[in-house]
Amino acid sequence: MDRSKRIKEIVASCALVLFLGAASLSSGGQTPTVNSKPVSPKPIKPQAALKANPAASSNMQDWWKNAVIYEIYPRSFQDTNGDGVGDLNGITSRLDYLQDLGVDAIWLTPIYPSPDVDFGYDISDYKNIDPQYGTLADFDRLVAEARKRHIRILMDMVMNHTSDNHEWFLQAKSSKDNPYRDWYVWHDGKPQTTAGRPLPPNNWQSLFGHSAWEWDENTRQYYYHKFYIQQPDVNWDNPRIHEAFKDIIGFWLKRGVGGFRFDAVTTLYEDPSLADEGIVLDKDGKPVINAYGDPQLDNSKTDNQPGLHPVMQEMRAHSDTLNSDQFPGTRVLIGETYLPNIEELAKMYGAPDKPEFHLPMDTQVGFLNKLDVTAFRSKLIDVQTQIGHNIPLLLFDNHDNARLDLRYGDGVHDTDIERVLATVLFASRGASLFYYGDEISMKTTPPTRKEDVKDPIGVTGWPKEKGRDGERTPMQWDTTPNAGFTTGKPWLPVPPSAATINVQAAKSDPTSMLAWYRSLIRLKKTNPAFANGANLMLDTENIKVLSWMRQAPGSPEVVVAVNFTAEPQIVNLAASGAGMQAAHVRTLLKTPGGPVPRSLAAIKLGPYGVYIGQIE
Ligand code: NOJ
Repeated sequence: MDRSKRIKEIVASCALVLFLGAASLSSGGQTPTVNSKPVSPKPIKPQAALKANPAASSNMQDWWKNAVIYEIYPRSFQDTNGDGVGDLNGITSRLDYLQDLGVDAIWLTPIYPSPDVDFGYDISDYKNIDPQYGTLADFDRLVAEARKRHIRILMDMVMNHTSDNHEWFLQAKSSKDNPYRDWYVWHDGKPQTTAGRPLPPNNWQSLFGHSAWEWDENTRQYYYHKFYIQQPDVNWDNPRIHEAFKDIIGFWLKRGVGGFRFDAVTTLYEDPSLADEGIVLDKDGKPVINAYGDPQLDNSKTDNQPGLHPVMQEMRAHSDTLNSDQFPGTRVLIGETYLPNIEELAKMYGAPDKPEFHLPMDTQVGFLNKLDVTAFRSKLIDVQTQIGHNIPLLLFDNHDNARLDLRYGDGVHDTDIERVLATVLFASRGASLFYYGDEISMKTTPPTRKEDVKDPIGVTGWPKEKGRDGERTPMQWDTTPNAGFTTGKPWLPVPPSAATINVQAAKSDPTSMLAWYRSLIRLKKTNPAFANGANLMLDTENIKVLSWMRQAPGSPEVVVAVNFTAEPQIVNLAASGAGMQAAHVRTLLKTPGGPVPRSLAAIKLGPYGVYIGQIE
């Protein structure tokens, strides 16, 4: 299959998790300085000598505002007991590596007991650790060892659904009179029947294919599941669900976690009218058919419903009151927030007197899935100016989406393009989230045969939807068997690329992606303009190079220029504002090759080249 077709497929599969949101309601946030003229450069002042990770070590309340957050898919990071599945002790054994990289916090995808239909996102006990990952004692040791290295552990909080093996659901389905019955979303079917049972209440679909309603013969009602059949949605109209999840959140906060990443929050509620969702039509007016063979629905009744905001206000208030001395500093709430526009994202922060997420994910920039300077600039301006005084959280990938090579690469310059994206990620104002292996340029490696697929959506949707195994392959540490991930048989095959793409090789290569990540993260942490400066776009008509300036009071400004094309480019940033003409620049970081610029008037960039310089 040719590469462009494969990329289209990947993009189509991303639509699975890029949930379609409801129509935008209102505009939030202020519109401050982005397009105003940058001020004249000031004389250089000596910079404070900041240690690596100053945000984590010196400012407990604000650590998250400039945080570097690392997502670990625990099954695939490091195995220590030879069962082929990563574990908590494996993560603990790699903390020095993460500290050295400059990581402030680690988000762990779910490690709770689970039947693993959705590899941990179907939780059967929220207050324990699945034995394949270790024990609560191992978890406590991980938190303590991470803390010694100024690293916080963030848990995944799945409040949309449980496993169908969770005790709550086992009770709920046992009878209509069971006290747990209304902890889930049950409805009668339509009066019409097929094969002796009523039809589902409406046309709603699971994001993982086919009807979102599953018939329970025992109690002769349907239950609702936005994801797999084995993931029944809980009922957020039931106050006992609120109390149950607050209790779970408290349990982990008291164990010293630094916060949570809230899974699938936009699907907590459904429209009580139970009205059918609209069918998405193509340009010829015909229904769009998704990878599972179903008509694509608009998700208007099952996504981004208003009820989620009071829930998040409640969870935030609860979490804030539990800020204790277990791990001093703000506990952060991060949201999995695939939304249609900046107005909807702005709402996820809540109001100053009713805060919700500290860091709802901005998926508008990172999932553009094409290197288009104008689109990047527009989305970056949005998130830098339309969310009030809140802090952006940028990201480009995760365990649900193909890695950067398949969504942004051209097959020739993939690694250079990944450098470009890393620069946008770390040199923009706000917190940065990345996925294990990005720092060594790990590539997406999807299964080639249906019989090898582990992710059930890859089985249901094959061959259009190959599932998410390709971005979940084991971490590539070195050139020992199985790339140092396990001494056993890895649960997913180690990609052949591990022979050359691995941490060991990257550490000894000053031009490696790892070296690039470390340099960018160090700048983000130690340069005051990067650490907390404003973010102002420059040269805003340029359609080939994205340029911006970071500007903090009392510190020299820093400019960043990133070539989004495979051809060399020259940019003149002196034209960008009064006082910039005379400015000289001192190089802080650049991609190899090409001359070192002396002035802002002529910054030469190689193909996909990056330049970062301080104005003097
Ligand atoms: C979003 C998670 O990131 C994904 O992996 C999971 O399958 C769904 N939520 C359902 O929990």
